[in-house]
Amino acid sequence: MVCLGNICRSPLAEGIMRHKARTAGLHWEIDSAGTGSWHVGEPPHRLSQKTALHYGVDISSQRGRQFHASDMERFDVIFFMEESNRRDAQAMARHTWNDAKARLLLNEVTPGANEPVPDPYYGTEEDYHHVFRLISTACDAFIARQLNA
Ligand code: 4NP
Repeated sequence: MVCLGNICRSPLAEGIMRHKARTAGLHWEIDSAGTGSWHVGEPPHRLSQKTALHYGVDISSQRGRQFHASDMERFDVIFFMEESNRRDAQAMARHTWNDAKARLLLNEVTPGANEPVPDPYYGTEEDYHHVFRLISTACDAFIARQLNA
């Protein structure tokens, strides 16, 4: 799960997908990263933590890290929160870039629409709830497809 800061959206996506995968009995390794390095080592944003906990997902032990080219080889699927994240990661990955693994998360819900998960960094608590619900719906759709594959 990749966003810009690895502090608002992708930590939520990591926690949500892990929670849902576990519940579905899937043994997946799930992680998140940011294309930027400003928040490396930091816990998720206070409102990401609070919102996740509201829905029963504890993300307090997660820590920020920066996307690395090796992530492209280590993971089977890389979900990006928006197009700019995918572009930035492609520039960082260079020869490890694998277009077949790189997906926009909300295309799980609206295929081909390339809708962004909006950045709530300067937003209100309600914006975090909106982001949580968008990510949750996308994770449900992805898991349902995996289970039916
Ligand atoms: P995120 O939000 O990409 O959802 O983690 C942001 C958090 C921090 C910054 C940008 C986006 N920042 O510029 O520090």
